Amino acid sequence: MKQKVIHLIEHSLQDIYGISLPDTENYVEIPTNIELGDFSLPCFTLAKTLKKSPKVIAEELCNHVNYQNNDNDNMISEAKAVNGYLNIFIDRAYFIEQIITDVFNTSYGSSEIGNGKTICMDYSSPNIAKNFHIGHLRTTLIGNSLAKIYSKLGYKVVRINYLGDWGTQFGKLIVAYKKWSNKKIVEEKGIEELLRLYILFGKEAESNPELNDEARAWFTKMEHGNEEALSLWQWFKDISLIEFDRVYKMLHIEFDSYVGESFYMDKVPALVTELKNKKLLVESQGANIINLDDFGMPPCLITKKDGSSIYHSRDIAAALYRKQTYHFEKCLYVTGMEQRLHFSQVFKAIELMGYEWASDLYHIPYGLVSMGGEKLSTRKGNVLYAEDILNEAVSRALNAIEEKNPDLHDKLNTAKKIGIGAVIFHDLSNQLIRDVQFKWDEVLNFDGMTAPYIQYTYARSKSILRKSPNGNGDVDLTCLTDSISYELVKKLALYPDIVKDAAVKFEPYIIARYAYALSNLFNKFYHECRILNADDNIKKSRIVLVDAVQKVICDSMSLLGIECPEEM
Ligand code: ARG
Repeated sequence: MKQKVIHLIEHSLQDIYGISLPDTENYVEIPTNIELGDFSLPCFTLAKTLKKSPKVIAEELCNHVNYQNNDNDNMISEAKAVNGYLNIFIDRAYFIEQIITDVFNTSYGSSEIGNGKTICMDYSSPNIAKNFHIGHLRTTLIGNSLAKIYSKLGYKVVRINYLGDWGTQFGKLIVAYKKWSNKKIVEEKGIEELLRLYILFGKEAESNPELNDEARAWFTKMEHGNEEALSLWQWFKDISLIEFDRVYKMLHIEFDSYVGESFYMDKVPALVTELKNKKLLVESQGANIINLDDFGMPPCLITKKDGSSIYHSRDIAAALYRKQTYHFEKCLYVTGMEQRLHFSQVFKAIELMGYEWASDLYHIPYGLVSMGGEKLSTRKGNVLYAEDILNEAVSRALNAIEEKNPDLHDKLNTAKKIGIGAVIFHDLSNQLIRDVQFKWDEVLNFDGMTAPYIQYTYARSKSILRKSPNGNGDVDLTCLTDSISYELVKKLALYPDIVKDAAVKFEPYIIARYAYALSNLFNKFYHECRILNADDNIKKSRIVLVDAVQKVICDSMSLLGIECPEEM
């Protein structure tokens, strides 16, 4: 619909002024106040190009658009020029017909803007032998949603789980394992035991610093391919992956690549050579660094005194490799805010190396998650496992179902969709940078801006459809011109722009808020308009509208990674 209006404006600009703008799309607005039309074109920027007053341009365009309307199936009911704006009113019946057809015919909201383009998405990326904590849950959910959004827009998305599987911490773990644990315990307890060993090592090393030397020696052995060291490391990695996989399965999340930091360890020597050739490498106390004084940043460490690679250099090597392998248009890194400096340094280093695509690398930071109110049951002390949170959400959802709808069939599956959906939505319904306060009462509330509220709305629409006769025959959509139905259709019409906006801004909350607003409006429609017991023509058209709404609610929730149960 918007596209048609844009074409109309483009033609008019061509006819009257002989100009064509490449980005008319960016000028056309959808006014929130319905009295200002369905679409509006502010003529202020054009005024500069055309050296005419915006008022005159709006009037000239207005006359032309009104004149041309017959060629456009009478799409427009009226065009008005008001204070330098061209306001376009679409014929309601025409608008409804177009939007409803779009919703059902095409993969609504999708686009071709990403065709032929690749985006690399680096997210989740937990650290081996450490717990998958609530912060990793956030990057996982954000990355998953952004991946779905970009795929919807036609991009090829490479979902990369850049495992934290290399570094001195593995030296520490090997020492701790050999001193204070054994195979049987690790096999029994998994990550919990590895984490215990890691913490214990920290404590012991305080009074016994030589332990650090031992750990460093083991890490050096790893870097030199020592078999014993590597087989222990691989074992720790396998154990960790089994645990991470459980979380991914619960969330139905998959990756295209699990290539982590260890893969880049042996690519750092070539990087060092390149940096030397480009005269970017400086020796400092035995280590190799890139000086970033000129950019107000601390130096970027490339290799340590013993020549081993570090987080920064592995990230630079990874970016070069990804560019070469995937030819990405953009590469996104979803991590907590605290890594901002790290990515600024890495991106700057790549820029200094002369790679102009450094500007296609984006750090997507997010705020902290904290637990407010009630204490969450955890396996151990104050360490929060993502898995525990998801399990608790499911069990709370199950309790709610037992209370509200004990006869529901397939309660457990429904509880999974509700509980996990609630956690996801809570994480994604605000700007990423905002901190998240996790309170069970808010997360699992059935009223308010939550997944259960939206899911309930969806289930309600499904129940209406189940009760309505199949095969509606001829439907007279002009019955939907009343103001509440029309408002709902207009909301549906926004969806394609909402998806694009969320992608451009890297903000899933734009979709979450939209799903909520659409649900709200639907509930208003449901309470104010008779549906199943309305007159036949009206009934048929309203059922079509209900069907369109449920489709868009479900689709928008799926872009967040949330499933909607048919009944609840
Ligand atoms: N493993 C890191 C962590 O848990 C996150 C990695 C983010 N990605 C990257 N390319 N550095 O903090």
